[in-house]
Amino acid sequence: MIHVINTINLTKRFGEFTAVDNLDLKVKKGEIYGLLGPNGAGKTTAIRMLTGLLKITSGDAYVLGKNVPDKSIARYIGHMPQDTALYLGITVHQNLEFFGEIFGLHKATISKREKELLKFIDLEKWSNELTQNLSGGMKHRVSLICTLIHEPKLLFLDEPTVGVDPELRETFWKYFHDLRNQGVTILITTHYMDEAQHCDRIGFMRRGRLIAEGTPKKILKISSTTSLEDAFLKFSSGEVQV
Ligand SMILES: Nc1ncnc2c1ncn2[C@@H]1O[C@H](COP(=O)(O)OP(=O)(O)O)[C@@H](O)[C@H]1O
Ligand SMILES: [Mg+2]
Repeated sequence: MIHVINTINLTKRFGEFTAVDNLDLKVKKGEIYGLLGPNGAGKTTAIRMLTGLLKITSGDAYVLGKNVPDKSIARYIGHMPQDTALYLGITVHQNLEFFGEIFGLHKATISKREKELLKFIDLEKWSNELTQNLSGGMKHRVSLICTLIHEPKLLFLDEPTVGVDPELRETFWKYFHDLRNQGVTILITTHYMDEAQHCDRIGFMRRGRLIAEGTPKKILKISSTTSLEDAFLKFSSGEVQV
């Protein structure tokens, strides 16, 4: 299996409106693929189909070699949704335990992973704090590690850096690279074009379609620009085509 994610004419319609329009997305094992595009481009809708949360209207999607939706791959996937999915009325520790139990992990394994992950996000002292008492940035960090508790092979990160301060963003990216170096595949969405430089490959999405794709370097070269923001505008206007 070369492609961990492979979609063929993947389409989602909400009534008359087409949110994802014949998307052909190929993501290789161990790469960080950044899906970029403005709000409403269809990024979240695409991820929700790939993770089995949303019914596919037409086309096909293969994730880890399985035609989705397929329950057997859930164990190997981590999904950090755009809206932080934490239970606010329980402690940080209880959230991690909850997510670990969903994936059938033993208490001892959860405990070990919890220690490592809390250390990574520098929140070791907050384990027994009620989640609602954490700042926005802290909740974001906890949300990320809840996604990682079961050591997924494939990560879907939907705008993980929105509302995250620049210092923490750097930390996140460093960690994403560490994971990638361990063979984890990451599909990440963002509407911050400047973040794309951290990705191995990027795809520009607009109105449900993939309008350009390649390494950040290649995208800049083809569009003869020095910023990905300008490149996006050029591809959007049809001035440059891949
Ligand atoms: N459940 C839904 N019902 C109707 N329209 C939706 C629904 N979910 C998303 N959309 C629409 O689909 C488009 C793409 O949304 P989304 O995938 O969230 O974009 P992005 O993540 O790129 O910002 C938007 O115009 C949005 O309003
Ligand atoms: Mg979105």
